[in-house]
Amino acid sequence: MRVTITQWAPASVTVRMQFLISIVWSDGPLTDGSLRQALRESTQDTHAALDALGDVSTLAHYKRFLLATYQFRHHVEPHVMTVRGWTIAPLVPALHADLIDLEVEPQAADLPKDEVRSHSAQIGTLYVLEGSSLGAKFLFRRAQQIGLTDRFGARHLGQQASGGSRWPKFMQLLDQAIDIDKNAAIAAAQQTFASAYAIYAKAFNDLPQTA
Ligand code: HEM
Repeated sequence: MRVTITQWAPASVTVRMQFLISIVWSDGPLTDGSLRQALRESTQDTHAALDALGDVSTLAHYKRFLLATYQFRHHVEPHVMTVRGWTIAPLVPALHADLIDLEVEPQAADLPKDEVRSHSAQIGTLYVLEGSSLGAKFLFRRAQQIGLTDRFGARHLGQQASGGSRWPKFMQLLDQAIDIDKNAAIAAAQQTFASAYAIYAKAFNDLPQTA
């Protein structure tokens, strides 16, 4: 078990300086020099930019975050539903229900379709989807602070936060993968993060500054 202390400076949209310190418990194997390490290092800048955008401290902000997450998952999940024995736990149904709870129209993002991708590229994308559950534990606590639950408005975060054994299992899959083109996996993870950033940035930039 590992303890990570992460510090954010979110709320860039509302120009409120708010530093959050969170202690995150993580159970997966951490092999230095591993594929996971390479994926993590090559995407950390975009992840940090996403953290800075992901303010969910008010319901108005949360709704934007929710719509962006729906758009992102709706765009990406169909390409990696099952990859060589690994099946994702789709978030789209819970996200859709959360949007309905909060009376937000489930509108898909207008993005070009991804082309058919290699197994290595799919692994890179899977890393991004599965890893996002680590941050979801923190985000779920924040959502609960504004009155949402795993039965209303934050179903998808509840689902991710309770999926405890998925990440260690996915780490095993990465550790055991022998026929992966590392560069292709990294490029795909970066591309997936870039799509996420574009979607979240649009959602938050559209938010009225007074919300
Ligand atoms: C928007 C607010 C977000 C916050 C506050 C957040 C926060 C976090 C935190 C605390 C971790 C755990 C870090 C660790 O254990 O060392 C994490 C991991 C991760 N998050 Fe996020 N995250 C956010 C959004 C996202 C999004 C939208 C994605 C996907 C597009 C994402 C992908 C990942 C990945 C792949 C990891 C695993 C990194 C690793 O290999 O350790 N996160 N996030």
